[in-house]
Amino acid sequence: MLTEVKNHTINENKTNSKKLYIQSYGCQMNFSDSEVVASILKKEGYDTTSNPNEASLILINTCSIREKAEQTVRRRISDFKKNKLENDDLIIGILGCMAERLKEKFLEQEKIVDLVIGPDAYRDLPKLIKQTKDGRKAVNVILSKEETYGDINPIRLNSNGVNAFASIMRGCDNMCSFCVVPFTRGRERSRDPKSILSEINNLNKSGFKEVTLLGQNVDSYFWFGGGAKKDFMKKKIDCEVVGFSDLLEKVAKQNPKMRIRFSTSNPQDMKDDVLKVISKYENLCNYIHLPVQSGSSKILELMNRGHTREWYLNRINAINKFIPECGISSDFITGFCNENEQDHKETLSLMEVVKYNFSYMFYYSERPNTLAQRKYDDNVPLNVKKRRLQEIIDLQQKHSLWRNQKKIEKKYQVLTEGISKKSDKKFYGRTSDNTVVVFNKKLTSIGDFVDIKIKDCTSATLIGEII
Ligand code: SAH
Ligand code: F3S
Repeated sequence: MLTEVKNHTINENKTNSKKLYIQSYGCQMNFSDSEVVASILKKEGYDTTSNPNEASLILINTCSIREKAEQTVRRRISDFKKNKLENDDLIIGILGCMAERLKEKFLEQEKIVDLVIGPDAYRDLPKLIKQTKDGRKAVNVILSKEETYGDINPIRLNSNGVNAFASIMRGCDNMCSFCVVPFTRGRERSRDPKSILSEINNLNKSGFKEVTLLGQNVDSYFWFGGGAKKDFMKKKIDCEVVGFSDLLEKVAKQNPKMRIRFSTSNPQDMKDDVLKVISKYENLCNYIHLPVQSGSSKILELMNRGHTREWYLNRINAINKFIPECGISSDFITGFCNENEQDHKETLSLMEVVKYNFSYMFYYSERPNTLAQRKYDDNVPLNVKKRRLQEIIDLQQKHSLWRNQKKIEKKYQVLTEGISKKSDKKFYGRTSDNTVVVFNKKLTSIGDFVDIKIKDCTSATLIGEII
């Protein structure tokens, strides 16, 4: 699931004088990592600021998932040329997936960059910053099999005080052929459940009402004392082994008043035990993001997704059986290598069967050194990729509207999350199944759970009234 550009806001602390401007691109994991980075640098005397002009350190947490994401980052870097000219002492650093992908090359390509640091090396930031102060460029892109930043209490950035993310694992072992993530984020490893529970407990105490557990493939979460999941067989285990359904149950029990979400589920790993736990606990939200990418088994095989169309539809049936009324969303890629009209039609027909609540949709962007780039020809013309994308976007909109219309005159519990962008007299919040609802404020406050009757809708939003 991807989000676009977001500035981080000020977290004032009068005792610290150095200012950090940190901006994140890409997935929720990057936003969550920036909160870890802010925490590491707070100890070094840095406060965050939303104004890059007053910063002595500018960090950009980057995304490599598609070529366009990388172009956006490069444009942002060039915005800071004038800051560098005006302030000799300004340090500019690149974090995240582009740092890991391009390594030292980044310093040659973007002359104003002083430091390049990969997703597993953030503890090294204070040392690297010192190095740049001595006038040297600094790079650390070493990937780790153990690092989870489990002991670091993140500083919540851009927070509404209601929703937060907690990372439960890092890396990915899946090797989908189109995807750069296994190369930029390294081997899959899970975080100690004790540290996850303690972070969520802290969030609860600070008044947060919802937490989203983050991982590239949460169903694969597996704690056996730490280290890469692939090394599990080699390790002597002297602790309780914890899988994802166990973790969900622990989190749900410990925080009965908090809403719990998670992202992302992977069809090949999502088992019934997780669905059963969700159905058992009221506070585990009835929503699953289950990316399918394509409805054609031929394309799924080329994508190395590890499942067929039939397997996927079996998982959808299981969700509907165990969690009636569950919101389901997906990711799609159009125009992957060798995708023909028949394959594309199978994607449309799968969408007709599932009728997703919403989806994130993209056209294929070849990424250097991925399996697909090495093995297959990127042979679907751009105009065809884009036309197919538009067709799935149109169909998705129809389904979203249909799903929302079915909610009219029904009642839902909604968590109030902020002021509506369109009217300051209205709040917005979400239902358990992750649909956005807009409603008149009345006597509610941000952070309140309210009962809402749905009166109207668009394809993106429900319009309701407090009852
Ligand atoms: N498991 C991850 C997936 C990360 S990438 C998660 O937590 O969401 C998010 C989405 O970006 C993927 O599901 C896929 O639909 C899309 N994507 C990944 N690589 C892509 C590429 N090379 N071109 C186009 N879209 C891509
Ligand atoms: Fe990428 Fe597939 Fe992992 S999409 S993040 S390789 S599950």
